Amino acid sequence: MTRKARGGAAADRNRDDIHTVLAEFIPDGGSILEIASGDGQHAAHFATTFAPTVWQPSERDPARREAMRARFAKLDLPNLRDPIALDVTADRWPVEIDWSGAPIRMIYNVNMIHIAPWSACLGLMAGAARVLPAEGVLFLYGPFNRDGRFTSVGNKAFDISLRARNSEWGLRDLSDVCEASSTAGLALDRVIEMPVNNLSVVFRVTK
Ligand SMILES: C[S@@+](CC[C@H](N)C(=O)[O-])C[C@H]1O[C@@H](n2cnc3c(N)ncnc32)[C@H](O)[C@@H]1O
Repeated sequence: MTRKARGGAAADRNRDDIHTVLAEFIPDGGSILEIASGDGQHAAHFATTFAPTVWQPSERDPARREAMRARFAKLDLPNLRDPIALDVTADRWPVEIDWSGAPIRMIYNVNMIHIAPWSACLGLMAGAARVLPAEGVLFLYGPFNRDGRFTSVGNKAFDISLRARNSEWGLRDLSDVCEASSTAGLALDRVIEMPVNNLSVVFRVTK
């Protein structure tokens, strides 16, 4: 399978793969903050399957927040919150200013850090370290390079297509992401190989 099919179709496909892995890290109580929820496919799915754990979606793009609201309006999920506007590069995230409900124990982020400038990865790590408690989980999913190399021909082609769209985008090397995480105050907990040359990468706050 190539990486040509992106966006909604990709989110529908990978959510079942992610579900199996994610189940192990779902906190016992508390809330989950999703960063870059896109059109809300994963939020709707995981708020259903992991109910009553609270799922808080977020998205920087207002049009996508509206798409999410339209999707969520058809559901009756008391644990699925209204999406909030959140840009990871902000010095303070809205949940640091105003948060009600069970403490945020996990941050979930799928397919963002390679489709955004490197500053988004740094912002994600810094924000996760500020928002999460000790041992709180930052769960990442997406394609990564390893030891400076692409892990498949498809990933290489995808990287080229991303850089053609925006020179600041592109696949990140897992070692660079780990270094950024450790500077922010997180430690690598687990790397799990996923279908189509993706990884699930789990970090924990060390403070
Ligand atoms: C490829 S989409 C992935 C959406 C969703 N996670 C999914 O898997 O379908 C990348 C997302 O990253 C978001 N994004 C890019 N830069 C961001 C930033 N600085 N802060 C928060 N979200 C950002 C975009 O708005 C977009 O929704």
